[in-house]
Amino acid sequence: MPTFATTVNGIAVTAEVDPRLLLVDFLRERLGLTGTHVGCDTSQCGACTVHLDGRAVKACAVLAVQAAGREVLTIEGIGSAEALHPMQAAFREHHGLQCGFCTPGMIMAGLDTVRRHGTELDAETVRAELEGNLCRCTGYHNIVAAVIDGAAAMGSAAFAPAAG
Ligand code: FES
Ligand code: FES
Repeated sequence: MPTFATTVNGIAVTAEVDPRLLLVDFLRERLGLTGTHVGCDTSQCGACTVHLDGRAVKACAVLAVQAAGREVLTIEGIGSAEALHPMQAAFREHHGLQCGFCTPGMIMAGLDTVRRHGTELDAETVRAELEGNLCRCTGYHNIVAAVIDGAAAMGSAAFAPAAG
């Protein structure tokens, strides 16, 4: 089996993996990063969304070895229970979740939306950007409100984004 090296949430990782291993399974089963969820087997739900070199990808559609030499960021890497990321705080504030299964993917997709569209977002943009993320519970209204407000908070002087 090939050995590959990657960086996950700022930590260097070297592992021997089956070349067919999916990135999502590597994160969950080998690294114990179970905040990245698996909600389908058809690359449709977005529950597995992580960032690869700063861009959102569906980790069920990427091989672990494709992360070689690259930076992976998961929901565990953006904030903590003690210090929520502004996007996480906005989801809590707006009740942007019910069961929470889709939430990590929604947040990672929301952050990629900010990367590409900036911190002043409108509902139309957010709804279009979250097309690849499915929620079975909320009806999306509160999720959209959370992403808009989370983005605005990221744009405020109070939030200094972490390096990477
Ligand atoms: S588990 Fe990846 S898109 Fe559903
Ligand atoms: S909150 Fe349950 S799937 Fe979205």
